[in-house]
Amino acid sequence: MSLKDVVFYNGQKMPIVGLGTWQSSVEEVVGAVDAALEAGYRHIDTAYMYQNEAAIGKALKKWLDSGRLKREDLFIVTKLPVVGNRKESVEKYLKRSLAALQLDYVDLYLIHHPVGLLERGEELWPTDASGKFLHDKNTDHVSLWKGMEAQVDAGRARSIGLSNFNSSQIKRIVKSARIQPANLQVELQLYFQQRELAAFCNALDITVCAYSPIGSPGSAEFVKKLAKDSDSVPNLKPLTDPVVEKIAKKHKKTAAQVLLRHIMQKGIVVIPKSINPARIKQNFDVFDFELSAEEMQELNALDRGKAGRMFDNRTLGTMFADHPEEPYSADY
Ligand code: A2P
Repeated sequence: MSLKDVVFYNGQKMPIVGLGTWQSSVEEVVGAVDAALEAGYRHIDTAYMYQNEAAIGKALKKWLDSGRLKREDLFIVTKLPVVGNRKESVEKYLKRSLAALQLDYVDLYLIHHPVGLLERGEELWPTDASGKFLHDKNTDHVSLWKGMEAQVDAGRARSIGLSNFNSSQIKRIVKSARIQPANLQVELQLYFQQRELAAFCNALDITVCAYSPIGSPGSAEFVKKLAKDSDSVPNLKPLTDPVVEKIAKKHKKTAAQVLLRHIMQKGIVVIPKSINPARIKQNFDVFDFELSAEEMQELNALDRGKAGRMFDNRTLGTMFADHPEEPYSADY
């Protein structure tokens, strides 16, 4: 099975393994991108809100200037910040991302989150005096999407898509879109396999990209800190699941490689985050083995549905609760 890319409805190819960079600091990410490109990655995922685009741009420029890679060899994804969730703001934020990345276009531009916050100066997460996030209750996805489409028209994005949207929010965009969303990026891992949402996207010819594909072990503490009730946060460790460990041993692969392969074999893109060169290499070394139908089934059976989710209203999403476009309460 070759499984190198997924193909969008418009023919564009997205490499099935990309480097995740959420929580990679400016200091860390230059080396991470460098190690990833050396290991064979061509797909890098970032976001305006990660505040590391300029550092990523520096690493990319070195490779492009050296002639070792051409722009068309790369697949670069970035995302509109939540303070930019209105039609008039899209161009400004994408232009800033492109300037930081030192690129003329991105391969894929995503709306980072369905909830919009008000814009106040340069703040990424504006809050009132009591610490409550300043929700923009007028967030209008249909109008916002027109701002996204204009970026394709202007040549600043090859494709556009969504992140953290639920099925009814996706449907509303699809119904009104002139340029269809090509990709949805959501949390998707062993214990939260998102089968309904993936099938829903598949039927609409929207590809899916899994964030936290190995269960985001580095975020556990961070997520617990954000939670109102830390006991409600499930203690998820797919990397040490006995079934995963058993299958890994059989293939002489690591647990992380099995977790990634399980998702990839469903035609879903994975963007494992790492800043460690050996783990970056390891996470790309997933093209030389195949899980059997029985192994896929064994892993599928470990899905816990919403109970297996890390990022929702209990954790990172508390800041989005009470907004009319809060995406997590829907079934999928
Ligand atoms: P590090 O950056 O030090 O490698 P996810 O992509 O699911 O959010 O997971 C990212 C987290 O998993 C980071 O904390 C990262 O740490 C760690 N990580 C990445 N690759 C591996 C791996 N192959 N084995 C174990 N931990 C990993």
